Formats: sequence, C-alpha cells, structure tokens
Amino acid sequence: MIEVDERQYKTPLFDALVSLAQSRKVSFHTPGHKSGKGIATRFVKFVGPKIFSIDLTTLDEVDSLQKPIGVIKEAQELAAMAYGADASFFLINGTTAGNHSMVISVCDPGDKIIVARNAHKSVLTGLIFTGATPVFINPKVDKTLKLTMNVTFDDVKEVIDENPDAKAIYLTSPNYYGITADLERIIPYAHKRGIITLIDEAHGPHLKFHPELPTSALEAGADLCVQSTHKIIGGMTQSSMLHARKERVNINTLRNILKMVQSTSPSYILMASLDLARMQMATEGNKLLSRALELARKARKRINRIKGLSCFGIEILEESEMGGLDETKLTITVKELGLSGYQVSQMLNHRFDIQVEMADPFHILVIVSIGDRQEHLDRLVKALRTIASENQGKESGPLARFKLPIFKSRISLTPREAFFRKYRNIKIEESAGEISSEIVTVYPPGIPILIPGETITPEIRDYLIEISGFGATIDGLPVDDNSMISVLK
Ligand SMILES: Cc1ncc(COP(=O)(O)O)c(C=O)c1O
Repeated sequence: MIEVDERQYKTPLFDALVSLAQSRKVSFHTPGHKSGKGIATRFVKFVGPKIFSIDLTTLDEVDSLQKPIGVIKEAQELAAMAYGADASFFLINGTTAGNHSMVISVCDPGDKIIVARNAHKSVLTGLIFTGATPVFINPKVDKTLKLTMNVTFDDVKEVIDENPDAKAIYLTSPNYYGITADLERIIPYAHKRGIITLIDEAHGPHLKFHPELPTSALEAGADLCVQSTHKIIGGMTQSSMLHARKERVNINTLRNILKMVQSTSPSYILMASLDLARMQMATEGNKLLSRALELARKARKRINRIKGLSCFGIEILEESEMGGLDETKLTITVKELGLSGYQVSQMLNHRFDIQVEMADPFHILVIVSIGDRQEHLDRLVKALRTIASENQGKESGPLARFKLPIFKSRISLTPREAFFRKYRNIKIEESAGEISSEIVTVYPPGIPILIPGETITPEIRDYLIEISGFGATIDGLPVDDNSMISVLK
C-alpha cells in the first residue's frame, strides 16, 4: 500500500471556483459571457452550462496567477509537495511557456547553453528570445529501429568537458517515445561542473507516481523541469506545470519571467484541471498507472506476435546507455510491411476510427494512459492485425533508402542574430550551403531540423525533400507546398 499524505486530497482552487459559482453573485466583470449566459446556444447545448460557471477571472475568492496569495498559491504548494519541488507554477500556455521561461530566467544574452538536439521548438524560440548561444549534443540513433533515442552520459560528459563555461544544459527526457536520458548520472555531473540542469519533461508528469516508470527529473536532482500535465495525465489541453529547486536558480527571477510570458487572463478551468490532476496522481496515481502499464504491456506482447510489426520494450535499454523506458508508450515499427508510419496512421484513422499520437517514416506512436480501457487496445490490435495481413511481403520502395538526418550543426550566428536578419526565399533544392533564417520543424514531434543561423547541409536538404514526399507536416517553410526555404540574405 502506498501511503498518501492526507493534504493531497485537497483541491483548494477547484473548491473555491465551485463555491463562487454556487454563490450566484452578480458579475459586472469579465469574462463577458457572464457564467455562460452570453455563450452561443449551440456551444452550451453541446457541453452543458456548468463549465461556464467556473470560467472566471482574477477575483479575491479565486486568487491571481500573476500574484498568488490565496487558493492558487495553496494549489501550487500542494503540487510542489507532490512532485518534490521547492516551488511549482501552473502554466496555461502549455510546456511551451515553461520552456520559454526556463531559458529566459537562466540565460543572459551571450550565455552558452548545452542543448540536446532533440529539443522541442519552444526551447529554440527561448534561445531567440534571450540571445543565448547553443552548443548541441546529438541524441543516439538506433540504426536497426531507425529511431532517435536520447543523449548518452558519455556524449553529455564530453560536451560539458569541452564547454566548462556553459551556464546550463537543456535535455528532453523522456523523449516522445518514452525513452529517458540517464539523468541520475548526467545531472550530478553537470552540477559538479557548476552547470544548471533544465529538463523538458513534457512527456513525464506521471513518472513520479509509479515505481515501474523511469526516474523523474526532479528525483534525479534537476534544477528546473516542465511537464505537460495535459499530454499524459488529467490536465486539460494547454495546462502544464513548471517545477523549481532553489539551490542554483533564482526563483524570484523565474516568477517574474512567468508573469511576462503568461496571460494576465489565465483560464481558471485549465488551472482547476491542474489542481485536480495533481490530487488524482498524488492520491491514486499508483493504482491508475498500474492499470495503464498493464494495458500497454499486454498490448505490446500481442502486437509483437503480429507478423511484420514490432513494438520494443525494456529490452531496448540493454547496452543503450539510456536511463529508462516509459512502457505506457507503444512505439510500433511498421517498416516490414513496406508502409510508412504515416500511411499506417492514415489507415487506422480513416478505416478503423483509431487515432494515434504520432507517426514518423517507420513508426506509429500510441499513448496508453490512465484514460484507456481494454476495449480500446483490443480495437487497436485487431486493426493492426488486419493492416498487417493485407500488407505482407510488400516492397519497401523509397522507404528502405530513407535515413534519419544526421545533424552536423554548423552555427555561424546565434539563433537570435539570425532570426532578426534579412532573409530571402529560395528553392529547397538550391539551399545546401545557405544559412537558415527560420526554425524548420517536422510535426509531430516538433523537433527542429534547422534553426536560425544553421548552415543547411546537403543531407538536411535531401531529408527535407524526402520527408515532405512521405507526407510529413513541415513547419517553418514559407510556402504551403514545402518547395521553398527562407535563408539569410
Ligand atoms: C518534448 C516537448 N516539449 C514541449 C512541447 C510543447 O508542449 P505544449 O504543447 O504543452 O506547449 C512538446 C509538445 O509536443 C514536446 O513534445
């Protein structure tokens, strides 16, 4: 039995919202819909009226996110206690706002920051805001699976040793596929060298609450970490949390930056969902996550029995130098069927009404969470069986030759300098040797292929052309047909 701290059953913000909604006070303040009375009827009919009664604004009874002194303060303190932080902050613009705040509060213009190359676009935009200079580390690639893993301790150590003047290191852990970096070795090493550790834990708000999930960033000693509560547990879309330890980071500076990057009209519905998601994880997370793990493990076994498909498990960690694997993520390799992940994702959606989280050229990614039930997994396995049986022995065609990009970053300007320079649009075919003026990102997962100031290599040029042909969504190219790219004049 996991012992629960009684205080974690409290939901101060949610309770205050309900109490104010029930008090039926007359409102002459924002939001203009006045507890739903001004909302279009179609909307109210579909979602019901109650939700609008807690769509409130900053008022004494429900506190202020910009200057919390009441129920938001209490709710954030409960979150800090549950996660083991010195301070926790509610975010209403997702982990994007957290990444911006982490970079801006730690790095001054010109500071050097070590960044794992699989960083989300928002980390790079943080660098544009501050003018910090990135030094990149490439994550390890599993050539057989054709999968980007995470960074290794040895690679991180080498970059830290070569850059002792770096102010901070920014890692994404877990990555989209649930693979964590070995933070228990990396973080103490960085700290020993006086380097602040910033972790994008967008995909790990649940890790703390189950012993069979990888060690969370805070447990490994991270100074700052941000989590997308909405991606994996009970937060509503856009709700995230930023957790801080005060030893190496000035929490007041962080608080001030958050005031700059967050709305002055935060959604109380989103914040209430954070209050409740924390309560749920702290009080029954273990039980809920045990069920999710069991569902995922069973499904993984069944998928591995389907000819032409495979779904790796913890065996991938052997000799991998990774930290761990979140087994609730099912990364299904489809390349043996001669289909791309994009094609399988489309088939699942349009023929079987199943929507996956993400596809890449070789895989589809399925998130199994506390919201899933056995019948959902049964439907997935059945659909995959049908797709596999229809596509046995097909030729892989151009997929077989497709390679993951190798980043040999040549950065001639900081992302900020390059972003504000004059640019021109040219054909991608003619772009090798030019310097990118934009962040070019393949979605999902939103990992930048090019950043402002980075020289476009022939490999990256070919990768962009090929991946566009496979049906990936590319952000940061100036025209919709993905034929052009913005480069510095
Ligand atoms: C690793 C990582 N960091 C940050 C983000 C951005 O998070 P949010 O959508 O909560 O702003 C994402 C979104 O996919 C992500 O995958």
